Amino acid sequence: MNKHMVALLQLLLPLVCEGLHPPKQKCNETLMLKKLPECEKSFEDTMMLINPNQWCNLTEFIMYYYIFSKCTENKAMDVGCFWPNSLADGFITGIHRQFFSNCTSDKITWEDPPDEILTTLILIPIFLTAAMISLVVWCSKRADVFG
Ligand SMILES: *[C@@H]1O[C@H](CO)[C@@H](O)[C@H](O)[C@H]1NC(C)=O
Ligand SMILES: *[C@@H]1O[C@H](CO)[C@@H](O)[C@H](O)[C@H]1NC(C)=O
Ligand SMILES: *[C@@H]1O[C@H](CO)[C@@H](O)[C@H](O)[C@H]1NC(C)=O
Repeated sequence: MNKHMVALLQLLLPLVCEGLHPPKQKCNETLMLKKLPECEKSFEDTMMLINPNQWCNLTEFIMYYYIFSKCTENKAMDVGCFWPNSLADGFITGIHRQFFSNCTSDKITWEDPPDEILTTLILIPIFLTAAMISLVVWCSKRADVFG
């Protein structure tokens, strides 16, 4: 990255962080933490329908994971919280630990993808979510540093 790019990024990132500030309605974190377990419950229920030796099989769980991810997003938005946020992030990490802790990337199997376009549509928001979480974390760290 050259000097101009860095300067441009320094100019743009504060604007991005500005845009990430929570919506008008105040975020009720207590309420959000009370609602998120509903998403966990339905995700657990659906994962129980899958044979545990298939838990690293992306083809099997991707749809359920997508629904879970959407669920946490909706619940957070419902109570005026921005999504993703660090609380919901910790919650999702817990889910990963519970179900995917034994999955390594070479063990994650991707056979017979249901439909290429559908797959892309599902994966894009997941990657975007990961990117957004990093950005939100970065922005909040920056807020700590620069007050
Ligand atoms: C947040 O939600 C909790 C639980 O429903 C409620 O008791 C509390 O009054 C709410 N706080 C705000 C600031 O709305
Ligand atoms: C993963 O799941 C798909 C869809 O159910 C199945 O066709 C495939 O055989 C599974 N792969 C493995 C390695 O079990
Ligand atoms: C991971 O492997 C350990 C040891 O084999 C097992 O006890 C545990 O239940 C597994 N966890 C998951 C999420 O499959």
